[in-house]
Amino acid sequence: RSTLQQVAARKGSTFHFGSTYDTYDSDASFLSSVFSTYFNHVVAENGCKWDATEPTRGTSDLTECQAVQSFATKNGATFRGHNTFWHSQTPSWLPGSITASDLVNNVIPQHVQQEIQGMGTSVTSWDVVNEIVGDGVSNGMSALQCVQNKKVWPTQTSDGSSTTLVTDLSFVHAAFTTALKYAGNDTRLAINDYNTGGSDAKTACVLAVLADINANAGIPYNRLAVGFQSHISTSSFISKSALSATFAKLAALGATAMITELDIQLPSGTSAYERYQAAIWGDYLDACLYASNCNEFINWDARDDLSWLGTSAAGTLFDSSGNPKPAAYEVAARL
Ligand code: XIL
Repeated sequence: RSTLQQVAARKGSTFHFGSTYDTYDSDASFLSSVFSTYFNHVVAENGCKWDATEPTRGTSDLTECQAVQSFATKNGATFRGHNTFWHSQTPSWLPGSITASDLVNNVIPQHVQQEIQGMGTSVTSWDVVNEIVGDGVSNGMSALQCVQNKKVWPTQTSDGSSTTLVTDLSFVHAAFTTALKYAGNDTRLAINDYNTGGSDAKTACVLAVLADINANAGIPYNRLAVGFQSHISTSSFISKSALSATFAKLAALGATAMITELDIQLPSGTSAYERYQAAIWGDYLDACLYASNCNEFINWDARDDLSWLGTSAAGTLFDSSGNPKPAAYEVAARL
């Protein structure tokens, strides 16, 4: 933590270095200790998702999301919002038989407004849309083609016999124009996705979608961000130089880059790669630290046994007893 203050002085802006938390996570004493001494930033792992925040249509329930925000405040940490729109972890009333125009004109604006307005203006950034770009994309695709390739609701809907693709990005524009209206003036509005960060076609798609949001929803670049989830492994990751080049492209536009969900899976059942894991962690951190436009860096799950990947993935900074792994020291040394 104290080194994070020195980082802020060096960068001229707060460096938000955090992890996930939900109030029902086990081991309160470990969590309050790491979030008050090591991390200075908190994101709800699940508590701000659509199923938690709008369990029935039109009803806003920010109980858990606000409890996570209060935990952040209590520990002197900042809070980021994840997320207002995602095809996964949706409430049971979605997608239902909702029409495209109802979705764009009513459902999305209502949900985004009630969540962003309800959580207040101090939220550092919101993942306004999560995982909207497909995995089978290729270079040169338009923003619409990139999203059509996602092949899940609402970009693709199916009645069993026929499949319909979304014909424009108005659902994305609706989310962003509503977010801009209700978010704090300093809150960044992000598109967040996995398997991105390098010179690959999916990252090109994310940049195309960002440009579309700027051009067609009228969101200024200085309010926009790209979140690079970074669920990676010791055998699949983006090099520091490739990450830096991508962050620099965003900086040239005036947009922000952030590492939003980093975990680094080890080959199963071995801790032999822990030092390698530490080196990759250090590279991701450096890419963000030394970029002018990267000030948020989130580690997904604070401890191996709390990880969504399972304990044996060993993908976090702290082992299942709460002891710092080599990566935790590596990160601390680079801050
Ligand atoms: C995961 C959580 O970690 C799990 O607890 C939950 O069961 C499923 O979602 N991309 C995202 C995150 O944007 O919200 C996901 O979080 C991990 C992948």
